[in-house]
Amino acid sequence: MAPMEENVVVSKLEKLFSMKGGKGEASYANNSQAQAIHAKSMIHFLRETLDNVKLVGGDGDKAFVIADLGCSCGSNTINVVNVIINHIIKRYEALGCNPPEFSAFFSDLPSNDFNTLFQLLPPLATYGVSMEECLANDNQRSYFAAGVPGSFYRRLFPTKSVDVFHSAFSLHWLSKIPESVLDKRSIAYNKGKVFIHGASEATANAYKRQFKADLAGFLSARSVEMKREGSMFLVCLGRTSVDPTEQGGAGVLFGTHFQDAWDDLVLEGLISSTKRDNFNIPVYAPSLQDFKEVVEENGSFVINKLEVFKGGSPLVLNKPDDADEVGRALANSCRTVCGVLVDAHIGDKLSEELFLRVERRAANRAKELLEKLQFYHIVASLSFSQ
Ligand SMILES: C[S@@+](CC[C@H](N)C(=O)[O-])C[C@H]1O[C@@H](n2cnc3c(N)ncnc32)[C@H](O)[C@@H]1O
Repeated sequence: MAPMEENVVVSKLEKLFSMKGGKGEASYANNSQAQAIHAKSMIHFLRETLDNVKLVGGDGDKAFVIADLGCSCGSNTINVVNVIINHIIKRYEALGCNPPEFSAFFSDLPSNDFNTLFQLLPPLATYGVSMEECLANDNQRSYFAAGVPGSFYRRLFPTKSVDVFHSAFSLHWLSKIPESVLDKRSIAYNKGKVFIHGASEATANAYKRQFKADLAGFLSARSVEMKREGSMFLVCLGRTSVDPTEQGGAGVLFGTHFQDAWDDLVLEGLISSTKRDNFNIPVYAPSLQDFKEVVEENGSFVINKLEVFKGGSPLVLNKPDDADEVGRALANSCRTVCGVLVDAHIGDKLSEELFLRVERRAANRAKELLEKLQFYHIVASLSFSQ
């Protein structure tokens, strides 16, 4: 088989990155309720995207293929696949056709905890069970499932093979930290900081360029893989400010108590300042304009919808007045998404120390934190230009 891409360089980050796996206190499976709530509030946008899919076949002809990119290891991805299938079935029924079979691909980086995800999947319905019975029963799966390991910034699927691409809360993760941000001789060197919130313009612009290059790679790969009749629904963290050093909710999450906790480790002599400066969170929350420019430069897709949506807080709390709970929730929320990177950079023991400090600092400023911590999302619905 001829290679599909030449000189593929898998970054160190893409080899190691994942949300925290398993089912422990800081695991993604136990810390993704906020994403579930935000996804629910955007479900009408998803349904609109699904209405843009041009239905063909039906009557059991060819499988309808769905791919969730950046699926992680919690139940959100399974819920979204169910929503997509239910909606497409309704559309087939409205046309008076029997729906086709469904195939769902759960895709993420190779270090994602696919085992935990697969254990959450209900068993495939037995042969002969109707789609209606299957959908009415949460304990049965109405589609064929498979895991696809790899970076969504490159090819993952055969040409023209996917009807619906979905990706939620993932595209703000960069494929790597730009070299200049780690280079002491560069003006983009992120001295004293672990994120771009409040960093220099040069550092933030290096991140912006990386985001745009990554998104461009994502769109070119999907433009080959999506069927002409297909549609794509994308949601990622975004920001309302034009200034990239103002990272909104992501800035509060990674640029305040998390940053201060790294500074604590330096001041307490537990790590050197260079060790801190060499750690950077590979997240860029784009503005609407950043996102739009890349889609337009790619030129393959029509924008059916592109907007910034207020998602709300990333913390789900039983008692918002309980400062200790707020502190713990912020530390867990941070740890579930970047704990794997912190562990790899300073080891498990110091990582534990770091997140203890995040927790304490967040508890001390709980009220102010809850007021400021709001996530905005970029929501995009794309299909092919005809
Ligand atoms: C916050 S989780 C989102 C999970 C899920 N979509 C949800 O709605 O709960 C972000 C996911 O994006 C994945 N991710 C980040 N960069 C990626 C890349 N280059 N290719 C594939 N997946 C990536 C991470 O591994 C992680 O599982």
